[in-house]
Amino acid sequence: MHRRKFLQQTMMAGAAAAVLNPTILFAAKQPKVRLGFIGVGLRGRDHLELCLQRDDVEVIAIADPDTQSAILESQKLIAKYGRKKATEYSEGEEDYLNLLKRDDIDAVIISTPWEWHIPQAIAAVKAGKIPAVEVCGATDVQECWDIVNAVEATGVPLFTMENVCYRRDVMAVLNMVRQGLFGELLHLQGGYQHDLREVKFNDGKQPYGGGVEFGEKGFSEAKWRTNHSVHRNGDLYPTHGLGPVAMMIDVNRGNLLTALSSVATKARGLHKYVVDKGGADHPNATVDFKLGDIVTTSIQTANGETIILSHDTNSPRPYSLNFRVQGTNGLWMDDFNSIYVEGKSPRAHVWEKDETYMKTYDHALWKKYENLANGAGHGGMDFFVINSFIESIKRQAPFSMDVYDLATWYAITPISERSVAEGGSLQQIPDFTRGKWMSRKPIFALNELGY
Ligand SMILES: NC(=O)c1ccc[n+]([C@@H]2O[C@H](COP(=O)([O-])OP(=O)(O)OC[C@H]3O[C@@H](n4cnc5c(N)ncnc54)[C@H](O)[C@@H]3O)[C@@H](O)[C@H]2O)c1
Repeated sequence: MHRRKFLQQTMMAGAAAAVLNPTILFAAKQPKVRLGFIGVGLRGRDHLELCLQRDDVEVIAIADPDTQSAILESQKLIAKYGRKKATEYSEGEEDYLNLLKRDDIDAVIISTPWEWHIPQAIAAVKAGKIPAVEVCGATDVQECWDIVNAVEATGVPLFTMENVCYRRDVMAVLNMVRQGLFGELLHLQGGYQHDLREVKFNDGKQPYGGGVEFGEKGFSEAKWRTNHSVHRNGDLYPTHGLGPVAMMIDVNRGNLLTALSSVATKARGLHKYVVDKGGADHPNATVDFKLGDIVTTSIQTANGETIILSHDTNSPRPYSLNFRVQGTNGLWMDDFNSIYVEGKSPRAHVWEKDETYMKTYDHALWKKYENLANGAGHGGMDFFVINSFIESIKRQAPFSMDVYDLATWYAITPISERSVAEGGSLQQIPDFTRGKWMSRKPIFALNELGY
């Protein structure tokens, strides 16, 4: 594909004039993609390992201030795969800027604490490096505009790493939606319902449980994620629930999120956990956690669907992303793998198990890549995220989840915080595409590369 066409498709018609970047132009013609990793904690190393398994990727450099665990473990992993030692950038939190100065890196994978994602992605595009950015919610809405503006001004595309869009059952349901099984879609649900108490607190030595420490005394996500629960009250992790349903109703590609309202329950779970596991005298028993245990957000769309998102990470509960996809003919629900389609389900008003439907509508991508995806993280879906990123760069093809998706999904967090603070007030959601949503066409999972 011609370079100009690539940029036009990536940025979509009407984007600010793209500045051709010689680094990407050169790299995109290469059979290999040369990568840097910013943040090689637990998640960064998942991506690192998937990349080390590919012969179309070279791992050039890693940036992480944690030399004891993150850098050390990454180099061990690199050695295990017989690859050349990566150059290290570990002199503090800003050393990633030196990694970005290199002229032998095409793209970077950013897997850092949430507050770093957008500043690092902006620095990457300004340095001509294509960023793939892990998921979270933004700190404020302005950040979302800042990354959209930076991508439009530089012409360097951004890839959003929302892996749940590639979950096998979710992709089968996307197929059902596209083939009209549920009729016209009306209502969707999704969320992050995951008991994270052993992630938010640990003993400072291991990632899961064993103590009630967080912040400086915590390990991995307990070091930084828990602080967001101390200071913020809103949907702090919207993309796993929203990304997949946004694809089903073509958000930013023929449809738009327009407004939301969020409410939160009282905050009880984290304090209770500290007292139950660490005792009432533990210093963390005095911490006043702001995050409501269950935050519920209702979203409206330009095409008339409604979406409910839930964020539920502080209570004992089985894991569930709470998906529900409902149209004029029937609906699917993630919980208990249930489906009902009028005129097709054997008994009126009675749920069926979705097993047969999942087989019938299994997505072509999963059929094609099943063997390669086997063993990859999160039931195989992590393979598809890396595959889509690398193959799109090699082919100069537009990313299936781009900066407009990142900005829209990330923005849910600060907007929901505002709504909760105002007792559930209705808040507008900006159109980060600046009107281009009307002409942009869906591309997610519509070709064999896994766009
Ligand atoms: N998509 C998924 O399924 C999934 C799963 C887990 C985590 N995540 C996301 O991945 C991201 C990372 O999470 P994690 O579990 O790996 O956390 P982690 O704490 O294990 O790793 C984060 C790493 O970033 C490093 N870091 C901190 N500041 C940095 C800076 N300025 N420059 C470079 N490195 C820096 C830390 O030292 C640490 O090694 C988060 O956004 C998280 O939400 C996504």
